[in-house]
Amino acid sequence: MLDPFKRHINYLRISVTDRCNLRCRYCMPEEGIDMMAHDDILSFEEIETLVKLGVEKGITKIRLTGGEPLVRKGIVDLVRLIASIPGVEDLAMTTNGILLDQFAEALKQNGLHRVNISLDTMDPEKFSYITRGGDINKVFYGIEAAKRAGLNPVKINCVVRNSADEPDALEVKKFCDENDLSIRYIHQMNLEDGSFSKVEGGEGGKCETCNRLRLTADGSFKPCLFNEAGFNIKEHGHDGAFDKAISNKPKEGTRNKSGRFNQIGG
Ligand code: 5AD
Ligand code: SF4
Repeated sequence: MLDPFKRHINYLRISVTDRCNLRCRYCMPEEGIDMMAHDDILSFEEIETLVKLGVEKGITKIRLTGGEPLVRKGIVDLVRLIASIPGVEDLAMTTNGILLDQFAEALKQNGLHRVNISLDTMDPEKFSYITRGGDINKVFYGIEAAKRAGLNPVKINCVVRNSADEPDALEVKKFCDENDLSIRYIHQMNLEDGSFSKVEGGEGGKCETCNRLRLTADGSFKPCLFNEAGFNIKEHGHDGAFDKAISNKPKEGTRNKSGRFNQIGG
């Protein structure tokens, strides 16, 4: 489907949960987080129905995000359901990698094509600081498992404070070069003040060619990360919510005072 600015929307990012097993400082507050109510979270059947609808309307690429998608119970079953929908040409996941060692093989066997894994530093202590307690070795095991399972390509998402030349990012780049991984640099963003920029090495953040739509774990189609608009399927119906999100896609992002990354899926 074309949006009002004649951009062809073919990419749907689905946040399957707002929960996460880490608490990255730039993404989630440490505590006092108002999580989505269990009853509001879309079932697998609902997600499957919405993906089928999306495919009818021109979606060909799907990415599963979170929160952390691998903490959603039964995620492998969801991957199988989505992968078997005719018209889904590309099925990817963005994960923090912590549980990937455990899941990579089953994900691949059930139809996941590829993964993006977040890694902002090579320093175990800094990693633990940034993620409020994460164990970097689990991410390394996860990366290895993803490669071994044949998920391809395995890309690394590296959040940078200032530039791709900063020391942490350079070390992550070296690791990627040595391990045949491609790297994308994501500038640390702030939804509220509207600071965002292009993903270096990726497609994100380029408003002129933006081809994406987002679906939150509680069933809202969102036209843009940097915009508060969202259309819930309970209020607008499946078709209505999808179409309204496309027809309300802004020319470019501005700011979003009501969203958090773990609720919209990075
Ligand atoms: N700025 C940039 N990227 C972010 N992510 C989460 N919060 C932010 C932020 N404030 C990214 C993570 C991960 C993906 C899920 O979203 O680094 O790669
Ligand atoms: Fe979890 Fe990813 Fe947010 Fe970190 S950035 S808290 S890993 S959802």
